[in-house]
Amino acid sequence: MPLLQINHLTLDFVLGGRALRAVDDVSLSIAAGETLCLVGESGCGKSVTAQSIARLVPTPPAQYAGGEILLQDRDVLRMKPAELRAIRGGVVGYIFQDPGASLNPVFRVGDQIREALRLHRPAQAGPDEVVRLLKLVGIPAPESRARDYPHQLSGGMQQRVMIAMALAAEPKLLVADEPTTALDVTIQAQILDLLRDLKRRLGMSILLITHNLGIVGDMADRVAVMYAGQVVETAPARELLRRPLHPYTRALMNSVPKLQANLRRLPAIPGNVPNLGDFPTGCRFAPRCPVARPECAGTAPALVEVEPGRHVRCPYFATV
Ligand SMILES: Nc1ncnc2c1ncn2[C@@H]1O[C@H](COP(=O)(O)OP(=O)(O)OP(=O)(O)O)[C@@H](O)[C@H]1O
Ligand code: SF4
Ligand SMILES: [Mg+2]
Repeated sequence: MPLLQINHLTLDFVLGGRALRAVDDVSLSIAAGETLCLVGESGCGKSVTAQSIARLVPTPPAQYAGGEILLQDRDVLRMKPAELRAIRGGVVGYIFQDPGASLNPVFRVGDQIREALRLHRPAQAGPDEVVRLLKLVGIPAPESRARDYPHQLSGGMQQRVMIAMALAAEPKLLVADEPTTALDVTIQAQILDLLRDLKRRLGMSILLITHNLGIVGDMADRVAVMYAGQVVETAPARELLRRPLHPYTRALMNSVPKLQANLRRLPAIPGNVPNLGDFPTGCRFAPRCPVARPECAGTAPALVEVEPGRHVRCPYFATV
C-alpha cells in the first residue's frame, strides 16, 4: 500500500449558491520515498488537491463531494479533529511559496522551530535540535541565525527556515507547493538541491507542485499533469519528458523556457484557462488544443491507462 492513495477526490466550492467543481475525480498515489510532481497552469486545482491531504481547505466554502484520501491507510476525509491535528505538520509537512507570509515576523526563527518541535516531538524541543535542523537545511552559523527575526534573513534563508520547521515533525510526506517561485533562479536551484538531498537522507516522500516542467527531470520520480480540475496525464518522469502523450502536456513542454534560446518571454499556451464553473463540455482542453477535432467538444474523455503506469485523458493521443 502506498503512503498516500487519493481515490476519485472531488471537491466543490459553494459560492453564491452554486457548487463549482474545482477538483474532479482526481486519483493520485505516492509511495514511500517517492517524489511526485503535480504540474499544470494556474488555477487547475494543484493547491486545493495538495491541501486536501491534511484537510486544510476551509469548508465552507469548500465541500467534499466524493472520493477518499488514504494516508497510511486511513481516510483523511473521515478523520476526527484530534486525528487531523496529529497528521497536520506531523505525518504531512507543508512548505509554501511565500515564506514571508508563513513565518511570524515577531518571533525569532529558532523559537518558531522550537514551537514546531514542542508540538510534534516535545522530548527533543531544545536548542540543540533547533541548531541541528538549521544545519540540516544548510543555514550557516546556525547558533546565531536561530536568534534572528525573519526579516533579518534573505528570501532563500527564510525558505530554508520554513523547510526546517516542516522537518521538525519528521513528516513522512513533505508537500512543497511552488516552494521556489518567489526566489531568484540561483536560489531556486539551491532549494531544489536541498529538497533532493533531504529526501535521500531522510527517506521522505515529496509532493512537489510546480507549473514549470523544466524542474521535473531533476526532481520527480513520477508526474501528474492537471488541467481544469482533472488529471490529464500521469507517467514516470523520464518517460513523460521523453515522450509526452497528452496534447496539453506537449503544449506545456513547448512552454518550458529554453535558456540557450535566450528567450525574452515565456511562450505561453494560446488561449485562457477556463474559469471554475465555466468548463467546456466534452474535452476541457478542446478550445485550446492544437489538434482538436469536432467530436472533442461532444464527449468528455476518460483517463485511460495506455501503458503500464501511464494514463492519458485523450482518446486521440496516438494519432496526433
Ligand atoms: N477558498 C477558495 N474559495 C473559492 N475558490 C477557490 C478557493 N481556493 C481556490 N479556489 C479556486 O479553485 C481553483 C483551483 O485553485 P488552486 O489554488 O488549487 O489552483 P492552483 O493549480 O494551485 O493554481 P496556482 O498555480 O495559481 O497556485 C481556482 O479556480 C481557484 O480560484
Ligand atoms: S480529446 Fe481532443 S481536444 Fe482533448 S486533448 Fe484530445 S485531441 Fe485535444
Ligand atoms: Mg497553487
